[in-house]
Amino acid sequence: MTIWDRRYSKSDYLYGKEPNDFVVQAAPLIPPGPVLCLAAGEGRNAVYLAQQGYAVKAVDISIVGLDKAKRLAAAAGVEIETEVVALADFKIPANYWGGILSIFAPLPPIARAKLHRQCVAGLVPGGMLVLEAYTPAQLQLKTGGPATASLMMDLAILHHELAGLEFKYGVETERQIVEGSGHHGLGSVVQVIAVKPGL
Ligand SMILES: C[S@@+](CC[C@H](N)C(=O)[O-])C[C@H]1O[C@@H](n2cnc3c(N)ncnc32)[C@H](O)[C@@H]1O
Repeated sequence: MTIWDRRYSKSDYLYGKEPNDFVVQAAPLIPPGPVLCLAAGEGRNAVYLAQQGYAVKAVDISIVGLDKAKRLAAAAGVEIETEVVALADFKIPANYWGGILSIFAPLPPIARAKLHRQCVAGLVPGGMLVLEAYTPAQLQLKTGGPATASLMMDLAILHHELAGLEFKYGVETERQIVEGSGHHGLGSVVQVIAVKPGL
């Protein structure tokens, strides 16, 4: 059992059942095509995108989280595909995804950079990456997120790691994040909407 399995073992949804605010904002911009949700957890964002009509695959290291995601999907009357994966070893097929979602996916820098390179390759031309993550400034705010800065990101890191995508939107900002008991107040985040050129 992973630490995330233990965190997800309660019947409550740690980050709630409602989608992340930034996902709701960005969803209408995601082009048609299959969407990959990285570190999808208990599935709130995957289920929301399935409700918007996307074919969604949700991947995460936690089988407990993904089981809850399946139940959330069933309760919402939609289907999502799930796969338990360790993102450090995950292979993303090239030129396949219309959208890739990365919402609060905490990975160490080497694994994260490798994953981000694969995200660039894995999108079809015109495909869109939507990402929100805590920045290191979150460590002072203490309203959720990893305990170490190395698991966080900023815009400069993301421009570097996502080279090859065109950033349509990229900000570092503070916003109120109230998502279950896991995220509970003012948070310092980086938000990105980036498109693979070539259409
Ligand atoms: C803060 S939660 C966010 C979950 C979801 N994206 C959301 O916003 O509701 C971080 C997620 O990353 C997953 N995760 C952490 N390390 C991972 C890894 N190495 N491979 C795959 N998933 C991982 C955890 O299981 C957890 O579901």
